[in-house]
Amino acid sequence: MKEKLEQIRAAAAEQLNAVGADLEAIRIRFLGKKGELTAVLRGMGQLSSEERPVIGQLANEVREYIERLIAEKTESQKREALENKLKSERLDVTMPGRAPELGCRHPLEQVRRELEDLFVGMGFSIVDGPEVEYDYYNFQALNIPENHPARDTQDTFYITDNILLRSQTSSVQVRVMEQQKPPIRVISPGRVYRSDAVDASHSPMFHQLEGLVVERGITMGDLKGTLETFAKAMFGESTQIRFRPHHFPFTEPSAEVDVSCFACGGKGCKLCKGEGWLEILGAGMVHPNVLRGCDIDPDEYSGFAFGMGIERVTMIKYGIDDMRYLYENDIRFLSQF
Ligand code: PHE
Repeated sequence: MKEKLEQIRAAAAEQLNAVGADLEAIRIRFLGKKGELTAVLRGMGQLSSEERPVIGQLANEVREYIERLIAEKTESQKREALENKLKSERLDVTMPGRAPELGCRHPLEQVRRELEDLFVGMGFSIVDGPEVEYDYYNFQALNIPENHPARDTQDTFYITDNILLRSQTSSVQVRVMEQQKPPIRVISPGRVYRSDAVDASHSPMFHQLEGLVVERGITMGDLKGTLETFAKAMFGESTQIRFRPHHFPFTEPSAEVDVSCFACGGKGCKLCKGEGWLEILGAGMVHPNVLRGCDIDPDEYSGFAFGMGIERVTMIKYGIDDMRYLYENDIRFLSQF
């Protein structure tokens, strides 16, 4: 029996020391209810009373030995597993991080801000007006009564018979003149709407920037100087402007204003379609009827107004040939600005 116990101790040690030993299986094989050591202990009854304590002590020693070894091996296997895990999941903290994607301002927003800075620099303040507007401010008060043909070119979306989506920022002129008396020097950028089908140069929603100056003694020379300063700052020092006679119901006289093509210097190129000039805005001297409607005496005060399309300025400035790019939110397009 003594040999049998020594044999068990040796066999258990050998198995437990093997790499990757299955500790639980080994425990069952030797110490389990049907295990080898248990079998020996069960046979102890047959031993003589002298032998029994000796063999009993040895059996206990062997059991303790195996238990200790199993405990040790369990610990070392755990440690090893942890080490492997740490090794395989190691982070290289010196690796460069993933750069967060930085957005940029939309080109229309960039140009709006640039225009605002420019006019604020000339002493204008910025005012806002509603996009959902009364017919009165968008048309009637601008000298465009019902059935006036000018309404056709600015057909818009109606909420009710007399509430609409404004077709021009000129509506803000009237709102300002109702609230404020001269001297007035404001710009008003914002969205406007027209019932136009989408194509390369039309959209049912676009942006305008309106300008209005009212004071004693304001002349067309002031308008011209203001627009020249704007054009040079926006398109370059050598830019020239040209007034062409035009008609707007709310200004008299009225003009369409062109800037010399900065791409070709006026010689004629693809951008200006061979013209040498680029149409940029509408302007004129505020019509006496408009002033009068806002309780401003046209015999005492005069003013000029202008309105430009922010899309148009943006497209000319950056050589964009299709307006739709400005609305499609294509990152490949937008990230170029
Ligand atoms: N509101 C005009 C348009 O949308 C532009 C304009 C503004 C003309 C101010 C004259 C004065 O076409």
